Amino acid sequence: MKIAILGSGGREHALALKISKSPKLNKLYCIPGNAGTSNIAENVNLDINNFIELNKFVDGHNIDLLVVGPEKPLVDGIVDFFEKKNIKIFGPRKKSARLEGSKIFTKKICEKYKIPTAKFGIFEKKNEAIEFLYNSKMPIVIKADVLASGKGVFVCNDFASAKKSIIKIFDGEFGRDHKVLIEEFLEGDEMSYFIISDGENFKSFNTAQDHKRVGEGDVGKNTGGMGAYSPSGLINEELEIKIINKIIKPTLKAIREINDEYKGFLYAGLMIKNNEPYLIEYNVRMGDPECQTILPLLKSDLLDIIISCCEKKLDKNNIEWHNKKSLCVVLCSKGYPENYKKNIEIPNISELNQDRNNIIYHAGTKIENDKIYAIGGRVLNFVSISDEFKNSRNQAMESIKKLNWKNGFFRSDIGYKIIN
Ligand code: AMP
Ligand code: GLY
Repeated sequence: MKIAILGSGGREHALALKISKSPKLNKLYCIPGNAGTSNIAENVNLDINNFIELNKFVDGHNIDLLVVGPEKPLVDGIVDFFEKKNIKIFGPRKKSARLEGSKIFTKKICEKYKIPTAKFGIFEKKNEAIEFLYNSKMPIVIKADVLASGKGVFVCNDFASAKKSIIKIFDGEFGRDHKVLIEEFLEGDEMSYFIISDGENFKSFNTAQDHKRVGEGDVGKNTGGMGAYSPSGLINEELEIKIINKIIKPTLKAIREINDEYKGFLYAGLMIKNNEPYLIEYNVRMGDPECQTILPLLKSDLLDIIISCCEKKLDKNNIEWHNKKSLCVVLCSKGYPENYKKNIEIPNISELNQDRNNIIYHAGTKIENDKIYAIGGRVLNFVSISDEFKNSRNQAMESIKKLNWKNGFFRSDIGYKIIN
């Protein structure tokens, strides 16, 4: 088969590397890809949000299947667009992608199907939203109803910062759709739970915990993710049954009742308290860096699983996992998540040892005249698997220190809650 993966991050390099091992693959393209994917696929420099241009490429190269990495094209309806042209594409349609595109859409589903989640209110007027704060307990969570890569979420400890966040949203910092979601602050421990679904059947696709804050000890600004580990230390059989029955199944039912079917990865961001799950948010894709962390644990052929999803035969597919601990440390450009320099060379990557248990996935990199340059905030993902999280972290840190990239920084405490 001829496959094209859409996206350019660490998640897409991880998908590409796994798919590249499949005996069902004939030719792999990454659009646009990065320096890492250029070693295992042909990179094609196209804008994945321009469906017309993509279609010209897909037609001209007889692509059999498109695999979509990031959320934006999904929320914008890329799956509907290519399905109309009879091209196989793995991911949810526009209607279902609202689970990530609109937090209010998801909250309304939670309300209707009694899915456990934080209590919430939806406000369309600035004054009413601020008024509501007077009788609210702190901390409180203020959210813009847009796709803002986590930037539209404010966990506020006091009235003044909550009011400031509301004003920011109504002043249009996240676009012109002036609606605000105010949520009760949930206490507990976070966990990411993944499924893969073919529209009728679904299977668990493992668990992970990421570290979103830039600083060690989970302090500082939010980022796309500074590292992750898998599986989550919180998961157990009883909890998984609750997640499936109270959260996943009612959501898939809700999607059917709006006349759609959910095909693709679904990522549930959960808060766990006393072994009870509460839904914080949905993402309609794999997480980044959770994908890089989870895929090295997958024993089965990923391409085979994805094809069975596109053919509604996931129930015939047995997904097997290595019983190991995976941990990912993200190497970032100094200054991230704020301003950082671009086009800085990363020497010596090729000298680092990589094997089945130690993988380096590229994210914001490009290759030019055989040299590798950092062009993004998150640059490389060092993933190691072993029998203990501590050893996995040591292995990952060993490589990252060996690389000794002068323009980089990383968190050395990934997994601290489960390691210490
Ligand atoms: P979201 O983009 O909705 O996942 O929110 C980003 C992060 O904000 C989450 O990963 C949580 O750490 C935090 N968060 C969001 N909503 C809540 C909530 N209701 N209670 C506590 N923390 C929250
Ligand atoms: N790591 C968080 C995300 O992918 O949304």
